[in-house]
Amino acid sequence: MLEWMLAIGGLQLDVPVVQAALSGYSDLPMRRVARRHGAAYTLNEVVLDQLVLTRGKKQRAITRVAADDHPVGGQLMGAEPEAFARAADALVEAGYDCIDINFGCPVRKVLGRCRGGFLLSRPDDALAIVRSVYGAVAGRRPVTVKMRRGMDDSPASERAFFTILDAAFDLGVAAVTIHGRTVKQRYQGHSDWSFLARVKTHVGDRVVLGSGDLFAAEDCVRMLDTTGVNGVAVARGCIGNPWIFSEARALLAGLPLPPPPTVAQQGETIAQHFGWSVETHGEARAGRIMRKFGIKYSELHPFAGEVRAAFIAVKTTADWQAVLARWYDPTRDWPPGIRRTGPGHLIAAGATL
Ligand SMILES: Cc1cc2nc3c(=O)[nH]c(=O)nc-3n(C[C@H](O)[C@H](O)[C@H](O)COP(=O)(O)O)c2cc1C
Repeated sequence: MLEWMLAIGGLQLDVPVVQAALSGYSDLPMRRVARRHGAAYTLNEVVLDQLVLTRGKKQRAITRVAADDHPVGGQLMGAEPEAFARAADALVEAGYDCIDINFGCPVRKVLGRCRGGFLLSRPDDALAIVRSVYGAVAGRRPVTVKMRRGMDDSPASERAFFTILDAAFDLGVAAVTIHGRTVKQRYQGHSDWSFLARVKTHVGDRVVLGSGDLFAAEDCVRMLDTTGVNGVAVARGCIGNPWIFSEARALLAGLPLPPPPTVAQQGETIAQHFGWSVETHGEARAGRIMRKFGIKYSELHPFAGEVRAAFIAVKTTADWQAVLARWYDPTRDWPPGIRRTGPGHLIAAGATL
């Protein structure tokens, strides 16, 4: 097991499998669920530097880090180095264990505002942000960067990628996570794992995490084995399937893949996730937020189609309890759970982010 440890600066992780930043998903309840199922480290969804710096409800929510939510990374997006650095400092003060800089978001509005993936086409601007953030938090927390493999497939884009990558490490960044799709690609086609292998060979001992198309525990092991990356960041593959973390742990420890979670185990996790969501967001918001999780959880159920339809129909907490009582009744003799191996139904979110 030791050979699989992952260090991100001072953060020592006992397994190289982490939960990626997921906008609209990786809130405190999801991070708790992921951690409880074996994720070594989790990231909050990307937040705008301005949101951290502007007093209000959203700022209070972002800067509230729970005692049982460690180690947790705070990911930031912005365009202006000084504001970015002040936001990073605020996240450190709030208790985040790592500051992650987003150079990957492909949403059109974000690109139009010169943030996220746009910065992959502007190495000088991207590196000004890295320098500024590193200056603000170095010595207190590790700084990491999340990148796609470029803006597009052009040689100029690839040159810009490597310029940012090398200089970011030279500036002191502790690790870089690379999603093997281009910004232009969004979620079309595959994540290019051969690019991850090239990057890892290029950077030598420096720490690289890979991202893209990790839908099952075997994918995590395969990415580690075939690309040489130091760690993997599970994204769509853990929404509604936190068992991917315990399964990856088993495989990395040389154990056989455990059977898929039983319906009773699924029900217990969903109920806990729902409870944490109500606690964090209040009942009305939790209902809305949990609906999309329920739809993803349903894919593991032996009656996936019916359960999915039931989750789509839920509106109130009472509806939730009714779906859990009917479809996850632990006293019933259910067929075995289903193992998820692909992206499943996440078209709407995946298409925009
Ligand atoms: C709904 C959704 C939200 C995402 N939000 C973020 C985000 O906030 N920050 C980030 O760096 N990447 C974000 N990503 C990208 C993922 O972290 C990951 O790099 C990408 O989904 C590729 O991995 P996958 O193919 O295994 O899903 C998001 C992806 C999806 C589908």
